[in-house]
Amino acid sequence: MAKARSLFYCTDCGNEYLKWQGKCPACGAWNTIVEQPVVDTKKKAAVSAAAGLGAHHPRPIAEVEAVDELRFNTGMKELDRVLGGGAVKGSLVLVGGAPGIGKSTLMLQICDHLCRFCNVLYVSGEESERQIKLRARRLNIREEGLYLFSETNLEDIVSTVQTERPDILIVDSIQTIYSGDASASPGSVAQVKECTMTLMRLAKGMGVTVFVVGHINKEGSLAGPKVLEHMVDCVLHFEGEEHNSYRILRAAKNRFGATNEIGVFEMGDQGLTEVPNPSEAMLSGRPENMPGSCVTCVMEGVRPVLAEVQALLSPSGYGNSRRTSNGFDYNRAMMMLAVLEKRGGLALSNCDFYVNVIGGLTLDEPAADLALIVALASSFRDKPVPFDLAAIGEVGLTGELRSVNAVNQRLSEIRRLGFSKCLIPARSSGKLAVPAGLDLIRVSNIREAIAVLV
Ligand code: TYD
Ligand code: MG
Repeated sequence: MAKARSLFYCTDCGNEYLKWQGKCPACGAWNTIVEQPVVDTKKKAAVSAAAGLGAHHPRPIAEVEAVDELRFNTGMKELDRVLGGGAVKGSLVLVGGAPGIGKSTLMLQICDHLCRFCNVLYVSGEESERQIKLRARRLNIREEGLYLFSETNLEDIVSTVQTERPDILIVDSIQTIYSGDASASPGSVAQVKECTMTLMRLAKGMGVTVFVVGHINKEGSLAGPKVLEHMVDCVLHFEGEEHNSYRILRAAKNRFGATNEIGVFEMGDQGLTEVPNPSEAMLSGRPENMPGSCVTCVMEGVRPVLAEVQALLSPSGYGNSRRTSNGFDYNRAMMMLAVLEKRGGLALSNCDFYVNVIGGLTLDEPAADLALIVALASSFRDKPVPFDLAAIGEVGLTGELRSVNAVNQRLSEIRRLGFSKCLIPARSSGKLAVPAGLDLIRVSNIREAIAVLV
């Protein structure tokens, strides 16, 4: 028998190496290379045969049937939106998130709708069937058509799917499932990779739609980590803050749709409820007449969403100042700080600097620049931003303001939420359709913008 050879993987980028190294040559990360035993390829072939995939041959493209993918609704509009208009039959969706964020709850809640028209097999390696039943009863989940299976062995799961032939398979979570053919422990890179690959073949071979739950470890990558992302059809991240009931679902990858949509949920006693109007949710509890807060409007996919940017500047007590940014890109925030100091004429260099975006949103659009500048200046001067004022605009390094896309959609969302003034770049491209009741304050640089502070 051939001696099993060891291989090393980078847990960040998934590259494989023959020997251990301190730094991954491919992605440059330190201490991310771990050892994994190699899986016997004969056994691998047996697993893929068991998963229902026969031999394949290359086919001329003209002979390949071009049927549109079959989509079905999951019963949760916010989830359907992130999936690109419903789940695709025969696809594999990975739902990742920190432990306790509500992944199992989301999966169980979609069963309520899915069970109406198909059979769902819910495999759990974390909870007993009784535990799931109790939760399902508490969440009022329809029972006919839903099958529970508490199992962690991959081969048993595959053979159950082959005999029971469910339309939808939910695996919760991938880190608890193990294949008897890979000798590594459950949750390791080799196991997670192997199990996902087999489930992927099962999805494609039998046309089963598979939802796989994956825990995100504290470094923020899916355990067994980025190695899974390239294999699966769709990667969803379920995010939220510990002390906040809002949860945001976003697509990191989607082979069947765009990745810029978000879904917003709220966790309550009755499980997750959809938040069809995220702007209201993000602005709830906004302080009145407090310095350091400014509202902006960002585009999440095709949906405009209002966000509150908060900034706090305080003189640093010691030589070196502290700078943190939460929900706003750190480098961009630093750039705004420098622009405000140099072009806005505020002496900020001896200040501690904290930026926070309320509600767990992550702003990655330049359109939010102006709101950050205004919030920073407001905190520095200790003067509140008018409560009915919002700001949109990209800020350049010379302090000039640049126009942003989808201005009209943003303006109407700003007006809909009751704002009556909006700072916008003086040179906005395209024809502006200003909603009634909204006054535009056109500014061409940041000095003019911070002059609105009363
Ligand atoms: P869960 O779905 O088990 O998280 P995950 O599968 O991502 O680890 O959700 C667990 C958390 O959600 C737990 O802290 C309790 C909370 N929760 C509610 O607040 N209300 C509910 O109705 C349910 C089912 C869970
Ligand atoms: Mg769970």
